[in-house]
Amino acid sequence: MALQFISAEEAASLVKHNDNVGFSGFTHAGSPKVVPVEIARRAEAEHAKGNPFQIGVFTGASTGDSIDGALTRAKAIKFRTPYQTNSDTRAALNNGEFDFFDLHLSQLAQEIRYGFYGKINVAIVEACDVTESGEIVPTTGVGITPTICRLADIVIVELNKGVPSRLRGIHDIYELQDPPKRREIPIYEIQNRVGLQYVKVDPRKIRVVETERDGDGKGFTPVDELTTRIGQNVADFFVSEINAKRIPPHFLPVQSGVGNIANAVLSAMGDHPDIPRFEVYTEVIQDAVIDMMQKGTVSFASGCSLTVSNGVLQKFYDDIDFFKKKLVLRPSEISNNPGLVRRLGIISLNTAIEVDLFGSVNSTHVNGTKMMNGIGGSGDFTRNAYLSVFLTPSTAKNGAISCIVPKVTHEDHTEHSVKIVVTEYGVADLRGKDPKSRAIEIIEKCAHPDYRPLLHEYINRGVKGHIPQDFYACFAFHHALVETGSMLNTDFSKYPRM
Ligand code: COA
Repeated sequence: MALQFISAEEAASLVKHNDNVGFSGFTHAGSPKVVPVEIARRAEAEHAKGNPFQIGVFTGASTGDSIDGALTRAKAIKFRTPYQTNSDTRAALNNGEFDFFDLHLSQLAQEIRYGFYGKINVAIVEACDVTESGEIVPTTGVGITPTICRLADIVIVELNKGVPSRLRGIHDIYELQDPPKRREIPIYEIQNRVGLQYVKVDPRKIRVVETERDGDGKGFTPVDELTTRIGQNVADFFVSEINAKRIPPHFLPVQSGVGNIANAVLSAMGDHPDIPRFEVYTEVIQDAVIDMMQKGTVSFASGCSLTVSNGVLQKFYDDIDFFKKKLVLRPSEISNNPGLVRRLGIISLNTAIEVDLFGSVNSTHVNGTKMMNGIGGSGDFTRNAYLSVFLTPSTAKNGAISCIVPKVTHEDHTEHSVKIVVTEYGVADLRGKDPKSRAIEIIEKCAHPDYRPLLHEYINRGVKGHIPQDFYACFAFHHALVETGSMLNTDFSKYPRM
């Protein structure tokens, strides 16, 4: 059956007010770039005529500005899940302009299948190849693409001519069966491929829009003194773990979170002479991993997206045959699968907004109220990791904020899941320690020296019990920040004793 080619405008007209729309990709990688912008234009035109036009937006994770930014600014979103990093979207959801719901990224595809969020009407997916028999080859991000393509009535394929179709073969597309029919995922080593090289869809549902657009790969902030110190602390800690035989000499697969710190930590691990070549089993493959694969310090990488700067992406395309042997892109329910994380013995490295004295981590909400990005895959990995590590600078906003606080204002990862905390000052090893010893360890190894006296004062308030948490004073740091602009002005004497 011949494929039907249409314009972006025609594609946008297939989306109706109130539809649930699933988008491909994971970060800007693999996200559609032209049809969502046309949907935003259409929404603005309908609003100008006094007509309602809003859609539910389901994605693998964050997207490019062409989805989150354009649809937010057009007030075209009624509901959005799961993770976002767009400044306009963040402002709008924190203003309550639309419903936003955050969840572990590994769970979204199955929860869509379970019917928890209603029907997916339209899927809009970026591809580097599409065939008359309905084979859709994604580009550099997979996310929830297999599930939304299977469930949607209409599948709009943005065929991006800027992405080489030779990418075919890099993906491993495998969708889980739902309970009670679910079987184990037959991945026992990270190189194992268990699915198809493409997403298979009934070709009658497909409409193709041709494009040729670059992504938003802006690149990373160069490694600086702070991120270098965090990276070195992590690398030295891993070497001591190898020497203590708690990490095997051939190492274990590493997951690394998003952002500059994670990128710098991977580089530091690659540069350390005593860390062997290792494998990466992660969600987002960033610049450092591509460099390390070329240098030979990373032997294989499995991820859900290739979220790299434009220059690194070109390098990847130029050497695609090399990378096809060493890299695989999977759907998020596989790349982040908790069962696989536990089976493979993943060492997880994620970044925290704040960490408390007993080891709980806030990854998502500044001051417990304002959503930053979302939990992403940090929970999928942390809870199930062989060894879970959280990274954070000791302070934020030029020292006005301590990232080590008496109690986190929002709890994404509990003290039961968090094993290691690293700042530029050192490494707190929480394994086997009771709450009071954890607090001392975190203060002495990780907190900024300016905040250590205040943190000691907090745990010495004389609260009885297993955890010396003082519910009158536990948010005194945040209280001081709001009232005076700095947590350094915390005055515990203002609070009654428990
Ligand atoms: N209070 C207030 N603001 C804080 C803060 C705190 N305790 N800690 C950090 N910030 C601010 C920083 O000042 C910075 O602000 P800016 O953008 O205005 O400069 C911003 O938060 C980002 O912090 P940064 O230190 O640059 O770290 P990052 O870019 O690595 O992001 C997270 C950190 C936690 C927001 C990010 O890693 C995240 O979204 N994590 C959750 C999802 C996740 O872990 N995904 C990976 C799983 S596979």
